[in-house]
Amino acid sequence: MRVGGPIHYVVTGFSRCIPAQLPISTRFRYTISRTATMTCVSHTVQQEVMMIDTAQAFGVDIGGSGIKAAPVDLNKGEFAEPRLKILTPSESTPQAIGSVLRKQLEHFEVPETVPVGISFPAPVKPGQKLNWIANLDQSWVGVDITEALSEECGRPVTVVNDADAAGLAEQQFGAAKGQEGLVVVTTLGTGIGTALIYDGVLIPNTELGHIELEGGKGDAERYASSAVRERKELSYKKWAKRLTKYYSLIEKYFSPSLIVIGGGVSRKSDNFVPFIDIDTPTVPAKLRNEPAVIGAAYYASTK
Ligand code: BGC
Repeated sequence: MRVGGPIHYVVTGFSRCIPAQLPISTRFRYTISRTATMTCVSHTVQQEVMMIDTAQAFGVDIGGSGIKAAPVDLNKGEFAEPRLKILTPSESTPQAIGSVLRKQLEHFEVPETVPVGISFPAPVKPGQKLNWIANLDQSWVGVDITEALSEECGRPVTVVNDADAAGLAEQQFGAAKGQEGLVVVTTLGTGIGTALIYDGVLIPNTELGHIELEGGKGDAERYASSAVRERKELSYKKWAKRLTKYYSLIEKYFSPSLIVIGGGVSRKSDNFVPFIDIDTPTVPAKLRNEPAVIGAAYYASTK
């Protein structure tokens, strides 16, 4: 762990220490507020240690239309710099997406020591191959996503389902902060993503956007996603009727204490959330700025 000269550590606030090459990249400027002695991992360090109060990680959200990336300030749950969005290549293969990710890592000069988290629009099971994917190129099927993206990026990365990432961000920094019981966070976009969080603990890869819904040919997201509203030019009120059918099933099967509605369209929540007619308290997501980027960065920092 020694990096030469005095021992310097980045303290991430998640009970772990990682050695930092100092001076730290100017883009990843940390607030160094005090010095202290501390116990680090397996041995006591009786030398000067820099306490870094502003912990950062790098987050990326791979979506059907855009790939967004930014350094994230984990104390505030905000971007530390404006995000960089690059359009998803029309052939969204692992190689094509890998080349976008490399551009983004280079653009922000992300140091090796900074954890990188990537949110991905399919169930993510590290060490296992993907069985199916709805909204990216089918060449992802049969691929271990975490392994493939780590290879493409030339460094280890942590991958998490995009809705789970958004859910974690809402639970840490947003509308579900401090909420007890079962929270269902949904993202309404090209598809419908879901995250289940019980007493603050994520139950990953729930895929409730694909439950059977009347008129949806067996797949709720083909009936009630935000993309369907746009394609069919549904008014917000008509769409809210479809959403009522969807959320009624979620309510019936899971009895959540809170439902959080996210996705880009949540910026217009006044147009449809009040018209979703269910009993469970239902609120729009709070994080306006790419919760999946923030949640992916947060998730990587906990690994
Ligand atoms: C995918 C989910 C994803 C959601 C939102 C669905 O089609 O199956 O894994 O979370 O879209 O992107």
